[in-house]
Amino acid sequence: MLDGKKVLFSGMQATGSLTLGNYLGALKNWVSIADEYETFYGVVDMHSITIRQDPAELRKRARTLLTLYIAAGLDPEKNCIYYQSHVTGHAELAWILNCFTYMGELNRMTQFKDKAAKHADNINAGLFTYPVLMAADILLYQSDVVPVGIDQMQHLEITRDIAQRFNAIYGEVFTVPEAYIGKVGAKIMSLQDPAKKMSKSDENPNASIYLMDDPDTIMRKFKRAVTDSEACVRYCDEQPGIHNLIDIYCACTGKTPAETEREFDGKGYGDFKTAVGEAVVGVLKPLQDRFEDLSKNKDYLNSVIKNNAEKAQYISNKTLRKVQKKIGFPERIR
Ligand code: TYM
Repeated sequence: MLDGKKVLFSGMQATGSLTLGNYLGALKNWVSIADEYETFYGVVDMHSITIRQDPAELRKRARTLLTLYIAAGLDPEKNCIYYQSHVTGHAELAWILNCFTYMGELNRMTQFKDKAAKHADNINAGLFTYPVLMAADILLYQSDVVPVGIDQMQHLEITRDIAQRFNAIYGEVFTVPEAYIGKVGAKIMSLQDPAKKMSKSDENPNASIYLMDDPDTIMRKFKRAVTDSEACVRYCDEQPGIHNLIDIYCACTGKTPAETEREFDGKGYGDFKTAVGEAVVGVLKPLQDRFEDLSKNKDYLNSVIKNNAEKAQYISNKTLRKVQKKIGFPERIR
């Protein structure tokens, strides 16, 4: 609890361009539940360097991401939006938690296995201990709730395990967080292969809608989306491509799958794909316009970056000092 409210933490990597999956699975929910919580939204740039990054590009993407958080509707006066690398406690707590995490647990992480297979020439220790840094992000603020897409569930579970293990030794130091998974959009799939999640790192640009795609590109990508030969808009596992498009449509319009089936009863895939494209443009276009406006306002963004990093540093220090004391680090002399 902070100021009488439960605490929420979430973050996104400043790697690649954000996709509609990131938006519908996470960012949109962040905005819709923000008012109920004391919130911390990190641009997790330290996680990004587990894969080689071009320095100038990383800096640019981090700023774009931070601006997008605000453009999506998070008011930085009320929500602590900041760069992870500006708050020293993330790395400090991660080191401590590394000593309470087992190699065997980390070995089971599917995201590590996937990334290690993809980057076989750079399987660094950071890639392996990535979930520990994520646990530090969350536990540093005593977070009650963590809104994420389904792909992050395993990381949430290991965070809970680490917190419980630590608490069992030292007493109730950490709040044990719960995941918040949205009802719709928690797993948006690739438009080209509905068996795979939509991902920033997909090499086929037609597989993902990027938040900055212009309306024509969005419409074209939906027209090309892989479906099947059933030719009816039905929400079932046998039609994974249509299932995914219905999920996207519902997440953007607030309609239910049953309402969508009724709306497109007797209509072909062409009509449906056009409607999905239009619904997505309707959501992304205002966000893109706000992004353009905000990007021009450099002084404002700089003040958000500075003030919120200071706030996050101040609040996170409380947990860090408590943890350091519990494990026996010598007291600071004042
Ligand atoms: P990242 O940057 O890969 O993704 C950011 C958020 O987007 C969600 N997401 C999706 N949701 C639905 N469908 C998809 N296709 C899709 N793709 C991505 C993710 O679930 C995530 O919520 N390790 C994290 C970042 C992180 C973090 C944290 C998150 C670091 N520390 C602490 C929460 C709390 C990551 O790589 O997310």
